[in-house]
Formats: sequence, structure tokens, C-alpha cells
Amino acid sequence: MTSDSTPPTPSSQPPNQPTDINAARKFAVPNRLAGKVAIITGASSGIGQAIGIRLAAEGAKVVIDYVGRPEGADDTCQVIAQSGGTAIAIQADVTRSEDIERLVAETYRRFGRCDILVNNAGVEKGADFWDVTEADYDLVLNVNLKGAFFLTQAFVKRLIDSKQGGRIINISSVHEDMVFPHFDSYSASKGGLRMLMRNLAVSLGPHNITVNNVAPGAIVTPINKSLLENKQQLQALLNNIPLGRMGTSSEVAGLVAYLVSEEAGYVTGSTFIIDGGLIRNCHEQ
Ligand code: BGC
Repeated sequence: MTSDSTPPTPSSQPPNQPTDINAARKFAVPNRLAGKVAIITGASSGIGQAIGIRLAAEGAKVVIDYVGRPEGADDTCQVIAQSGGTAIAIQADVTRSEDIERLVAETYRRFGRCDILVNNAGVEKGADFWDVTEADYDLVLNVNLKGAFFLTQAFVKRLIDSKQGGRIINISSVHEDMVFPHFDSYSASKGGLRMLMRNLAVSLGPHNITVNNVAPGAIVTPINKSLLENKQQLQALLNNIPLGRMGTSSEVAGLVAYLVSEEAGYVTGSTFIIDGGLIRNCHEQ
């Protein structure tokens, strides 16, 4: 990476700052995804938003799925349209089966196909294990795991019928593998996504559909708002990251763009960690 592309440090990038659009586009490979249609869930902010911008910059028509932030989804579509890309926003809650059906049906109605699914929508709730409420557990598991499960099912049903290949990416986390005390439901959901991805790679391989997980570490996004506001906690985390900084949504989007491209046709059943070395930095002293 050249010095002018050095991503901003957390202190210069407040948690609610929208995706750096130029960064999201900077390394885009023109036309790599031309003719493809992609659904990205939870794409009105953070990592999902950067993925939407990046895939559109590579020529895909993108569906920006959102739940609660219509303005974020509209902004994302506008940014894409302004640079000549095609994007539509669809409000659909991945925890509701009728919304899932509508999201896929509407994508086919508007674009006639759907080649790529990025299961990005995710939430986390921190608490001591003994204080976790059933409501919080249900929310986390329903968004992070059940949503990805059934949206993937709806996506592949049509794809298999159409006999085209396809690409599925789950935005997982280093915590599909690495312990994360106080985030037990989140870790369980991400561990579940890991095994779901591995199973589906086997079931869907014969249909030429690849399935992979992208596992980010600490990325500057709204999900990390409270961490970014707590200087002490943030410093403790940065001390554990060999590269000494948090990552950016655009960096995650770049990895996704490769994995959904034709070039990655032989890549399936794997998790791709993008964490500045965090997961390898488990040492005693
Ligand atoms: C979580 C963040 C956490 C990061 C590194 C992510 O999956 O969403 O809250 O800071 O992992 O631990």
C-alpha cells in the first residue's frame, strides 16, 4: 500500500463517519463484475455500504438492503448513481421470511437475475454471559445466522433453477474462531456461520455456487461505536493488533470484490481473515 492510501487512524475517523467513497472505489477493477447482480444485506452503513459501492464500481448492479436507515441506503444509491453505477434500495428485515422472499423476488423483477449474495447484516450485544436476555440472544442469532441461512436458501433456489453459477459471501468475524468474552451470542452466531459456509460449499459446489466467509477483525464502523468512544478500551485493542490500527470498510470490500469475481471461481469453503494480524497475536507475554 502506498503512503497516500494509508487508511485513516481511528482517532481521525469518528464512528459514524460514512464510508470513504474514494477509498471504496480506489482499487476497483473496472468491469470485473459487469453483467452481474448482487444483493448486499445491511448495506446502508459500514462494511455493507462499502461493499455496495465497490461492487457497483466494478460494474455489478447492486441491491442495497437495509432495515432502519433509509437515508443511509438512499445516500449509498445516490453515490453509486453519480458515478454511473446502478443501485436500488430495498427495505427488508432478514429475520422475517416474507421480507426475504420479497427481497429476492424484487431483485429478479428489477434486474432479471441475481448472481451474488453478500450476507453482511449483523448485530452484536455485549453482556456478562449470566445477564444475557433471551430477547438479545434471539436478535443476534436471528439477524446474524438465521437471516443468512434463509436468505441464502431463497437465493440458491432461484439460482439452481436458472443453472447459472453464483457467489455467496458471509461477512463473519474473527470471532467465528477467536474467543470474545461478553459477546457470547455474537460468537455463537459467527461460529454457526462458519459451519454453515463449510456445509454449503459442499452442497452447492456441484451447482457451481461458491461460498466463503470474510472474517473482519476490528474495523471502523458503527457497530464499534462504543469501543471507539472508549479511549482505554480502544488502546488495549490496538495493542493487540500487529499492524497497530483498525481496518477500514473499504479494505474489507476489496477482498469481497475479488471473492465474488470470476477470477475466484476455484475458491470455496474457506474463511478469509482480514484483521491486521489480531487473530495471530495470542501470546503470553
Ligand atoms: C466485532 C467488533 C470487535 C472486532 C475485533 C468484530 O467482529 O464486531 O466489535 O471489535 O470483532 O474483536
